[in-house]
Amino acid sequence: MASASKINFDEPIPEMIKRLKSEHRKFESNLVKVKTSIEDNSVTLASEIIRSISDEIIHHAVEEEARLMRVIMHKAKEESAESIKIIQEHNWVMNFLKNRIITIEKVSTSSDPDEYEQARNDLNEFVSNLRKHFKEEEAIVFPLALRAEAAD
Ligand SMILES: [Fe+2]
Ligand SMILES: [Fe+2]
Repeated sequence: MASASKINFDEPIPEMIKRLKSEHRKFESNLVKVKTSIEDNSVTLASEIIRSISDEIIHHAVEEEARLMRVIMHKAKEESAESIKIIQEHNWVMNFLKNRIITIEKVSTSSDPDEYEQARNDLNEFVSNLRKHFKEEEAIVFPLALRAEAAD
């Protein structure tokens, strides 16, 4: 299982960013499956797919905080405001993956139509927010970290 202690501080930032981007692609291919499952009315399958990539998403987020934010705060602090906001979105990602997904899994067997609908909405919202988060990182955080790393 992924953990903060397994962060590789020797991996060069440009290589790390390439890998993080390819992880976004991998997560995205799973998010497509999550969307299909929600549309097929299978909240159970949708939450299982999310659970299957949950540890990887968490590790990915921890790496971004430990390495990219570190270089940005060190070498591009005056430009860091937007990146900090984007990285703080990890709070709701973590909360959803550690808490909400558990209650969604219980709801998937519930006969309460309101609870079921709320679970579907929350899953859809999670997918949309995570997609937006990846785009923001690739547009703002990653380029700034690269520039900061290259600066003297
Ligand atoms: Fe992130
Ligand atoms: Fe990311």
